[in-house]
Amino acid sequence: MDARQMKIIAAAEALKHVENGMRLGIGTGSTAEEFVRLLAEKVAEGLEVRGVPTSERTARLCVELGVPLNSLDELPELDLTIDGADEVDGSLRLIKGGGGALLREKIVAAASRKMIVIADESKVVETLGAFPLPIEVNAFGLSATRIAIEKLAASLGLAGAIEQRKSGEGYFKTDGGHYILDASFGRISDAEALATSLNAIPGVVEHGLFINLASLAIIAGPAEARILAP
Ligand code: 5RP
Repeated sequence: MDARQMKIIAAAEALKHVENGMRLGIGTGSTAEEFVRLLAEKVAEGLEVRGVPTSERTARLCVELGVPLNSLDELPELDLTIDGADEVDGSLRLIKGGGGALLREKIVAAASRKMIVIADESKVVETLGAFPLPIEVNAFGLSATRIAIEKLAASLGLAGAIEQRKSGEGYFKTDGGHYILDASFGRISDAEALATSLNAIPGVVEHGLFINLASLAIIAGPAEARILAP
């Protein structure tokens, strides 16, 4: 079974949690896109849902495939969000933001009663941090913010390169017009402490540590999908 088939299996399992009339947060990334494709088939068959996309990229796909959309301001309370992840640990802590949509993804997840993560086995880790942590930062004072993050990391015993994410010839910009710093800290032994401290740096808009947001994870393996629950 190839990687795409595993994403489809996880997405199909997640679709079983979607009920008629639901207000749905719709994630970003290749796994979330498989979910959008399956959801669109159900919508074409008569399922009535309203979706709130977590990125312009997801919004475009939903529009193309006929999934009805609203903004989060129109639907500020959601029943369920389905989204992918870059890493998930046994306590359902996540690293997200590989696709650069972490800010909207976190706002949408926080506005949802439930968040289901869809991923394949390659995303499951014992300790977060092998995947570089995406940190969304304001363009103003970027160097000062980077230095503050480096000092914070050192104080927590974390070391590693912090790279500004590139896109083509320039730097990647998020849907909100911010930049991303990818921090290769390695093993993050205290994700809660890092998350709280990053939030205290003024130039940090948001970071990719998602803690206490996921309700369950559907993990697709070569044979079947399994559920990770807290
Ligand atoms: C986007 C994300 C994605 O959910 C994450 O990067 C996983 O993507 P994929 O399903 O393509 O592996 O956080 O910001």
